[in-house]
Amino acid sequence: MTPGAHLDVHLPGGLIRQYSLCNGPGDDGGYTIAVKREEASRGGSAAMHDRVEPGDLLHVGLPKNNFALDSTAGHTLLIAGGIGITPLLAMARHLAARGEDFHLHHFCRSAAHAAFGAELEREFANRWTLHAALPPEATREAIERVLGAHDADTHAYTCGPLPLMQLVASVGAALGWLPGRMHFEYFKAAGPVATGGTPFELTLARSGRTVQVPAERSIVEVLRSIDVAIETNCEQGVCGTCLCTVIDGVPEHRDQYLSAAEKEGNMQMLPCVSRARSATLVLDL
Ligand code: FES
Repeated sequence: MTPGAHLDVHLPGGLIRQYSLCNGPGDDGGYTIAVKREEASRGGSAAMHDRVEPGDLLHVGLPKNNFALDSTAGHTLLIAGGIGITPLLAMARHLAARGEDFHLHHFCRSAAHAAFGAELEREFANRWTLHAALPPEATREAIERVLGAHDADTHAYTCGPLPLMQLVASVGAALGWLPGRMHFEYFKAAGPVATGGTPFELTLARSGRTVQVPAERSIVEVLRSIDVAIETNCEQGVCGTCLCTVIDGVPEHRDQYLSAAEKEGNMQMLPCVSRARSATLVLDL
């Protein structure tokens, strides 16, 4: 398993959630994940905390990595918010083992809320900075300081709550960071994104079938209504399971999985959330 990878974990009640692996190099005896109990749980965190006991067996998928380290980086910044530390902990462990140059910044509500605090202190000492209990303006200033002092070959990796990810993205853009050097791991979409916009005509190239996709339904919903199976998982445009090839037309990308360059290329799309800019869209389905 490579640093930044995550697992699909099948939870009691039928939910499937993605959790990042914390394993370091050589730590291949099992998968280590960490799940925070969320007050506003969509079901996954509550199922894990309330319905899973030590000794239970859970079905998991194979590790997938949409958040891999770029091997060309001269320096690596790891920016974690709360439990978003998990993939960055794995990255820090691998970078440390390879003797590479990195610094891990961990933003959290308080030192007591810092998951893996003892491990971070022990393993990374002067390559780890805890930013605890910062108000919003101080958080912004800290991010500006962190991103402001960088060389052209630095890559930054961020995982955490959406507001932190959005803050890092906007500060990075304002400071002139190129999108290809900023990497984000999303596990949750910013909001409901699959509907709304213009209706369009969808053609399934393999069967030649054509259907209308109205504004109030996603492509996946329309496909299901005509009994065309498409594998999905998150249905929020973050996991990549429903990825399909675009044969003709211009997608309106609403996902957080494809990179900016991939979105610009318009070769693939995530039909669980993305739609069409053109009046017609042809997919390899
Ligand atoms: Fe996860 Fe579409 S099902 S991106």
